[in-house]
Amino acid sequence: MKHLSLENEVEQSSIENNSILRETDIINLPGVGPTIAKMFYEVGLRTISSIATIPINELASLGNLGEKTADKIISAAREKLGYGFVTADQILEVRRRMLRITSGSNALDDLLGGGIESGSITEIYGEFRTGKTQIAHQLCVTSQLPIAYGGFNSEDSDPISCVYIDTEGTFRPERIVDMVKRYNEIIDVKSVLKHIFHGRAYTSDHQMVLAENILQNPCFNTIKLVIVDSLIAHFRAEYIGRGTLADRQQKLNQHLHSLLRLAEITGVAIIITNQVHSQPDAFFGDPTMPVGGHILAHTSHTRIYLRKSKGERRIARIVDSSLLPESEVVFQINKDGITDVL
Ligand SMILES: Nc1ncnc2c1ncn2[C@@H]1O[C@H](COP(=O)(O)OP(=O)(O)OP(=O)(O)O)[C@@H](O)[C@H]1O
Ligand SMILES: [Mg+2]
Repeated sequence: MKHLSLENEVEQSSIENNSILRETDIINLPGVGPTIAKMFYEVGLRTISSIATIPINELASLGNLGEKTADKIISAAREKLGYGFVTADQILEVRRRMLRITSGSNALDDLLGGGIESGSITEIYGEFRTGKTQIAHQLCVTSQLPIAYGGFNSEDSDPISCVYIDTEGTFRPERIVDMVKRYNEIIDVKSVLKHIFHGRAYTSDHQMVLAENILQNPCFNTIKLVIVDSLIAHFRAEYIGRGTLADRQQKLNQHLHSLLRLAEITGVAIIITNQVHSQPDAFFGDPTMPVGGHILAHTSHTRIYLRKSKGERRIARIVDSSLLPESEVVFQINKDGITDVL
């Protein structure tokens, strides 16, 4: 097993860098008394950053406040955090501290610049049976490894948790059991299972509510990985025909932005899986495209395109990354999970 060489300071969780403050700190904001602070807490606005980054109309409707009051509270939160410009070296320092989760395959980790990045959205798309759900299961396991092995756990803090929003009913705890076997000297299967919160989403609205409620989960502080598998299936099934496209995209945009805010505020890693469609009018290259249009293309920080190869082998390609070069690697899906080609 590859021992990821991470710097010591990396052990500081990204949550610590994200100003997770207590309820009392929210009370100190001008315009926020104990009643409003309690209400914010109940709807999941438990940090100054979550208030600083929420749109005015959303805070107004969540808190039953006038827009003027909401604006005043948001401005005070921003001032408290010093939102404005920061220098590039500060950003680099924060990015260096962001942890990455190993995918189980060294080749795939290298392609991703060291693994799945925390604090951002990674989209995995491809045809059916290309391994999207298998990678999602694998990350629920590997994220629970100690930091030195490519996970998020450390002896100094409570065990981390994962959230799995399952829109297609394809989550299988048996696969988690299979995948833990490979790491059984390091992690305990019972503990791994206990730290995965599975939410079966029956409609797109239900899926959105599950995602929005993550901040209200009592274990919110320990959640480091959120998976939505698949992001688009319900939206595709519910909004049929050209006439509904604008409504669908608007809802999808809202959903993606709540996920994006979650990633940026809390530093969790977010994985979304996506389906593909064929573009018959493409003259060059592969006509297979991810669904979801521009909205999804603009929101995902890293896009991984999966294709089938011989037998258990799969090809992963990085697409549209602002950081990584477009290239591809081969990995394999086995009984015990995602591995390099054996
Ligand atoms: N127990 C197992 N042992 C070995 N390989 C497995 C096992 N379970 C699943 N697989 C492999 O994973 C593939 C299915 O992958 P997965 O369910 O991740 O597809 P997907 O990309 O999520 O597809 P869909 O678009 O239909 O959701 C199977 O075709 C098989 O190759
Ligand atoms: Mg799947």
